[in-house]
Amino acid sequence: MSAAAGDTKGANDMLSKCKANSGRAAVDQDAAGLDTRVNLAGVELKNPVMTASGTFGSGEEYSEFVDLNCLGAVVTKGVANVPWPGNPVPRIAETFGGMMNAIGLQNPGIEVFCKRDIPFLKQFGTKIIVNVCGKTAEDYIEVVERLAEEPVDLLEINISCPNVKEGGIAFGQNPHSAEQITREVKKYAKQPVIMKLSPNVTDIAEMAKAVESGGADVVSLINTLTGMKIDIHRQAFAVANKTGGVSGPAIRPIAVRMVYQAAHAVEIPIIGMGGITCAEDALEFILAGASAVSIGTANFYNPMATVETVRGIEEYMRQHKVRHIQELVGIVT
Ligand SMILES: Cc1cc2nc3c(=O)[nH]c(=O)nc-3n(C[C@H](O)[C@H](O)[C@H](O)COP(=O)(O)O)c2cc1C
Repeated sequence: MSAAAGDTKGANDMLSKCKANSGRAAVDQDAAGLDTRVNLAGVELKNPVMTASGTFGSGEEYSEFVDLNCLGAVVTKGVANVPWPGNPVPRIAETFGGMMNAIGLQNPGIEVFCKRDIPFLKQFGTKIIVNVCGKTAEDYIEVVERLAEEPVDLLEINISCPNVKEGGIAFGQNPHSAEQITREVKKYAKQPVIMKLSPNVTDIAEMAKAVESGGADVVSLINTLTGMKIDIHRQAFAVANKTGGVSGPAIRPIAVRMVYQAAHAVEIPIIGMGGITCAEDALEFILAGASAVSIGTANFYNPMATVETVRGIEEYMRQHKVRHIQELVGIVT
């Protein structure tokens, strides 16, 4: 993966095995009258399934075996105004039921991204959501302004990365700062704005309300939970950053709880994520109040997780005689 170049060897090995075994995935688009369309701030997605930022590159790495046309949207790796080198290695470690990463938002910067990644994604019939990171409000604004000229459908503003010292989480753990940065970004954004929340807070409902007050069009959650792993053989931290963000199935119950709380706090649509591996997991988030879902860590060991989830949701709708996916959103109260 471009995001974690050099230190996602395990994930890459798994991807190679999958590639050898499976070939290109294709989703049966004949959904027999089912309506899986989702509207996010005026942008219509063909279904509620998207990739989680940082786990799918900009789609190219997976496109040999995942038909990107089948996804509701591709959410790109976070991009900043200038290239960021990321943190020292090792930057990832396996944890029980998931993984821990401290990539530190390595990215090539907005200019390379616009020239290389957007034209690639434009070839597909899926929506493009660009995840934006920055150290200061000015950094975020520079990227948002640059993207105004690009054929991008939505922006996702990452104020929740636990692995960078400045920016990111500094905005995402204080409701006042979160509201302020949302308001700033909204002044310059041409596309609708998704604010991505951190679970590393005391009251997620308060954070969701803060970004809604700042003018966010959509809210996404959760980013990773700050963790620590110690390698007892090396008698050292498993990742050089000492702490990392924990993701994968182990965090799913926390994510579902937070999506439920956010859904009861705000009116704007919610994109739920955190440990989703299949349709059953995705449906938990939808029933808790998410209009759409993102799949992250699962892509590393099952690159087909997104398309399988699309199919599984359709199957569930057939079994439960649900015509519109909207009928399921937030019905467990
Ligand atoms: C290797 C890795 C890199 C990530 N990079 C980003 C990023 O650049 N921007 C962002 O907003 N979230 C990033 N995330 C967080 C994910 O998008 C997602 O919020 C989180 O992993 C929870 O979902 P999951 O359990 O399905 O992975 C990253 C996660 C992982 C595992």
